[in-house]
Amino acid sequence: MTTQPTNAETLTITDNRTGQSYEVPITDGTIRATDLRQIKADDADFGLMTYDPAFMNTASCRSAITFLDGDVGILRYRGYPIEQLAGQSTFLEVGYLLVNGELPNSTQLNTWVDAVTNHTFVHEDVRTFIEGFRYDAHPMGMLLSAIGALGTYYPNASDIADPDVRHLQIVRLIAKMPTLGAWAFRHSRGQPFVYPDNSLSYTENFLAMMFQIGKKYEADPRLVRALDVLLILHADHEQNCSTSAVRSVGSSQVDPYSAVAAGIAALYGPLHGGANEAVLRMLRRIGTKDKVPDFIEGVKAGKERLMGFGHRVYKNFDPRATIIKQACDDVFEVTGVNPQLAIAQELEKVALNDEYFVSRKLYPNVDFYSGLIYEALGIPAEMFPVMFAIGRAPGWVAQWSEMIQDKDQKISRPRQIYTGPEVRDYVAMGGR
Ligand code: CMC
Repeated sequence: MTTQPTNAETLTITDNRTGQSYEVPITDGTIRATDLRQIKADDADFGLMTYDPAFMNTASCRSAITFLDGDVGILRYRGYPIEQLAGQSTFLEVGYLLVNGELPNSTQLNTWVDAVTNHTFVHEDVRTFIEGFRYDAHPMGMLLSAIGALGTYYPNASDIADPDVRHLQIVRLIAKMPTLGAWAFRHSRGQPFVYPDNSLSYTENFLAMMFQIGKKYEADPRLVRALDVLLILHADHEQNCSTSAVRSVGSSQVDPYSAVAAGIAALYGPLHGGANEAVLRMLRRIGTKDKVPDFIEGVKAGKERLMGFGHRVYKNFDPRATIIKQACDDVFEVTGVNPQLAIAQELEKVALNDEYFVSRKLYPNVDFYSGLIYEALGIPAEMFPVMFAIGRAPGWVAQWSEMIQDKDQKISRPRQIYTGPEVRDYVAMGGR
């Protein structure tokens, strides 16, 4: 094929069905799908559509929040590299950055931290609501229901056009997520609920609500910092499955609690936020290092997936996984080494030297090592997706808020290619 560049930021399309040519503008390396609608085989034709199951190559929005380049392993929040934020910032500061677009000065940060801290309590009825779950209910199921239920306590939250109302719900959602997550855990253990202690930091408070029993819980500062870093790493990841769910449901202009509950539901799945739980169960099932080669053969034969490996976007390495590996060392220095670590390292070694994984560009993702840290902190596997949800809350609300204010956005409503029967007459029961 010969090419004659003209430097025009347009795309010329020739429809070989009709011989007609069309020129559509290219903006930011993208054409608008609706520009294709003018391309018709005849007057009755609806117009050309694109078919893109799972949105493999479709931008659903313009966003100024998170930049990700999967080919070279770059992740930035509002322009700041994830490595710098994980090294120097705190989870609540990162939350402010995601929601407001800039790092706060000290007054702004204090106001923000005070606001979040003052909203950590939930209505006392929520306690009864959580107590109503079966003793063995999955904590993520409890969190998702409880967040949906919170919307009923704040009826004016549906006034999403009001920036002050929006801001208040953003603060509440970030503030109450750890309380609800910890209470879901306590319920599953049959332990009394611990109320928030607003003299503690966000992360210390969460650990105290999880583990305090009988006497004051004092967390090792190195563990608190490691958990804060994990939350930072999970805080946003552009248009992933759960964020797309939040945006899509939020586009109906429902209240943000309902939209975030949809995000939690999406995150619950084993291919998304449930992967860290699946990794730990997989490591336990493998049991010992010598079983790794057999397990890998099973994966290659398509019997199952190597959980914690592979990513839709990262095709070189996941920068979050690199930071988590460092955090593992800090945590294990305090808690002792997690015995599953040796199996995980062996899996990584074998997979990274195996043609199957190399040719498919499958590398450890954020979930491969995060579960080992959570387990070392005493957090059980079924709580891992809840930990992810607590971390992702600022990203969800920032993306929701951006979507609400984006003039390009409308109610989300994909097209389809209908593959069912042509029109036919109803057949009465006796005739079927
Ligand atoms: N183990 C074995 N094979 C895999 C894996 C895996 N973990 N992931 C992908 N493949 C293979 C897949 O079978 C396919 O092979 P083939 O071309 O022969 O059919 C090829 O690699 C491409 O896979 P895909 O399913 O088309 O890739 P995707 O982009 O749709 O899926 C993924 C991405 C993350 C869902 C997938 O890699 C996966 O299931 N990983 C395991 C679950 C996991 O760790 N999820 C956490 C993701 S990171 C946290 C988050 O952001 O949610």
